[in-house]
Amino acid sequence: MAALSFQLQHNDTGSKARAGLITTDHGQIETPIFMPVGTVGSVKAVSQQLLNSDVKAQIILGNTYHLYLRPGLEVLEKAGGLHRFNGWHKPILTDSGGYQVFSLAGTRKIKEEGVTFQSHIDGSKHLFTPEGVMDIQRTIGGDIIMAFDECPPGGSEYSYARKSLELTHRWLDRCVERFNSTPDKYGYTQNLFPIVQGAMYKDLRKQSCEYIASKNATGNAIGGLSVGEPEPVMYEICDWCCDHLPAEKPRYLMGVGTPWNILECIGMGIDMFDCVMPTRNGRNAMLFTTRGVINIDNKKWEFDYSPIDEGLDSEISNYYSKAYLRHLLKSKEILGLTIASTHNLAFYLWLVKQAREHIIAGDFESWKNNIIPVLKQRL
Ligand code: GUN
Repeated sequence: MAALSFQLQHNDTGSKARAGLITTDHGQIETPIFMPVGTVGSVKAVSQQLLNSDVKAQIILGNTYHLYLRPGLEVLEKAGGLHRFNGWHKPILTDSGGYQVFSLAGTRKIKEEGVTFQSHIDGSKHLFTPEGVMDIQRTIGGDIIMAFDECPPGGSEYSYARKSLELTHRWLDRCVERFNSTPDKYGYTQNLFPIVQGAMYKDLRKQSCEYIASKNATGNAIGGLSVGEPEPVMYEICDWCCDHLPAEKPRYLMGVGTPWNILECIGMGIDMFDCVMPTRNGRNAMLFTTRGVINIDNKKWEFDYSPIDEGLDSEISNYYSKAYLRHLLKSKEILGLTIASTHNLAFYLWLVKQAREHIIAGDFESWKNNIIPVLKQRL
């Protein structure tokens, strides 16, 4: 069993986009890639079968914070890890809880040692330390596990962002040390990705990229974006970080974003994305399609019996009509959540596959600039 490897297959000439191939012990991932979010070991409303057949997902995410609280480590360990527990036998990435503790938990306190927080489920008190979070992610069993970081709130002052970054870097040292001194648990190799922070300050971001690169991990992530900053600022920081991270390692932009965000950031050299948007917005009647954005709640779709999106090869997107999906969501039928979420994820996976094909064909930049206005249209 081997550590993750990244083969750069094609560098675009008109942009900084790349096509690559990530190899893990649970299979290969063609990049650029979008990773559906499966917070508690399930992508909300979408079965593992649909993730395979319709969405064509190559890797999914799990969250340390949620899985640690429920079902808990004993259940996961006795199952033989998350892959065996949930029946998803392709790659899995787990986020470290660094972000969820700040966005979900009740009263929390950041100290040098780690973060104390209260469970959003039952109010019980817990402590996450860099070492503990490495051990927890070893037990969950993701192929890629994330460093424990602090994601400073959007709009953080420079002095707060600097102190927070220094803490994130000290935590990273502790993560690396613990990760390197503990064995793989289930017979396949796990990989630790460090996370760049530094809020919206370019000098901090550069410092963070250099520090993270010095760890020589098998891949690197950019965190702390899409936290309320204007879109042009997100693009500027993402582009800047790409320029200061190693080219020969995969770059993962955490928690971003809209279809057009993803295309723009692919053009900057990002290889991996995750976001709750396709599933969360799908559950709220917002559909992303090859022709533009649909609010399926709108009365104009009441008698539209055409397929949700014939531009995709997802069975769900072709089989069910807009009128029927509208009826299901209006009636709060569970099936509506499945159809909307599966369709949106199939669209996101289609989008990154198209991007990859256009990178390889050499016309990514012109394709991207032509398709973005189409995708942004409100139908
Ligand atoms: N998900 C989205 N943004 C972040 C981040 O900054 N840190 C972590 N750990 N996860 C994220």
